[in-house]
Amino acid sequence: MKRLLSLIVLCFVLLTSVPTFASEDVNAQGYSVAFNGADVNGETLSYNDTLYLPFRKVFEKMGAQIFYRSRDGQILALSRDGDVIYHYAGSNKVVFNGVEKVLEKPSVLHNDVTYIPLELLEETLYPDGIVYDNQKMNIQKYLFNSDYNKIIQDVLDCSKNKGFYPERFTRYINYHVKKPDCSMQDVIDTVNMGLDIPFYESFDIIVNPYDLTVLVNKCNKLPEGFEQAGLVEVDRAYRSNDGKQYLLTSIAYENYKKMANAAKAQGLSMYIVSAYRTENYQRNLYNNRLATTGRINADNYTARPGHSEHQTGLAVDIGNTKGIFEYTPEFKWLQAHAHEYGFILRYPKGKEWITGYSYEPWHYRYVGTDVAKVIWEQGITYEEYYVKYVGESEFK
Ligand code: DAL
Ligand code: ZN
Repeated sequence: MKRLLSLIVLCFVLLTSVPTFASEDVNAQGYSVAFNGADVNGETLSYNDTLYLPFRKVFEKMGAQIFYRSRDGQILALSRDGDVIYHYAGSNKVVFNGVEKVLEKPSVLHNDVTYIPLELLEETLYPDGIVYDNQKMNIQKYLFNSDYNKIIQDVLDCSKNKGFYPERFTRYINYHVKKPDCSMQDVIDTVNMGLDIPFYESFDIIVNPYDLTVLVNKCNKLPEGFEQAGLVEVDRAYRSNDGKQYLLTSIAYENYKKMANAAKAQGLSMYIVSAYRTENYQRNLYNNRLATTGRINADNYTARPGHSEHQTGLAVDIGNTKGIFEYTPEFKWLQAHAHEYGFILRYPKGKEWITGYSYEPWHYRYVGTDVAKVIWEQGITYEEYYVKYVGESEFK
């Protein structure tokens, strides 16, 4: 029984693993192979009448950059022409600028190097190609030097920098073309924040909606029907006395109370005028605003359902009875101290193009004291904090 099991496991492994050359399979092939006229014969393999070339070496010869995602063995090549080529080592599929092509033969592994069949190059060398002349084969790829290629090179030059997502290559190029005077770091940061695409035109669905540090904005939407867990009711002493129920996550509430108590000790008074909102509540809020003030105004002030921080129970709107909040001593105090309690002013003045909202001196978000301190000290938004400190591409 044990033997049978091991046999099944072995068969499974053999069937699913990347095909690998045994050294005796490596024969001299009939053609003399050159790359842009230079002999590359020592670098090719021939196996079952097919000519193979080492993926990384060949693409690097063309000035491309190669990345690898170890999670699933996906290879990504970014070319000097702005082409994007995805390929799984061992598969016969290649995605060239978003179009999948199925090859006759899969790529193979030899001495830990991924070798691709010549056909893969034929499919991806456009507008150049492979020229056959008698027994000679020349793989032609010319490097152009147009303004466009210079921009691509600028982008490629940063491709090993922290914060560079190879999978966003085309967006970096397009944004750089649109803003040639923008520094590469600004290009990368802007695209990483999703600001190269008009708000709501495309967005990601949030994968960590329950996390304390979740980023909810016009580019990141909470999953449909998301409801926060573990909400607690805000005591009357800390909220507007309008008969409504106010809920927050317990961590946001505990820290809000500390903050409000510290302000109170300074003779200041403030209270919560909005806290947790359900998706439906946010939908009604947005639709009412839309109906009364139009799309632009509604989007400047109110999040569309799924895009509001209030749905996380980590955000509060703060008010008092002293007139416009921005001009009250409570606001002044919050500006200096909110971060000590883990809260950030989420929609500051001058950063509207990043947050997507008009200045909201009343809206505070709980992120914890460590994060709040960094954001406060650097005068950055939560979006900027994210591109600077959170996450990186899996392609290395
Ligand atoms: N006013 C903020 C942006 C919201 O609706 O969540
Ligand atoms: Zn708010």
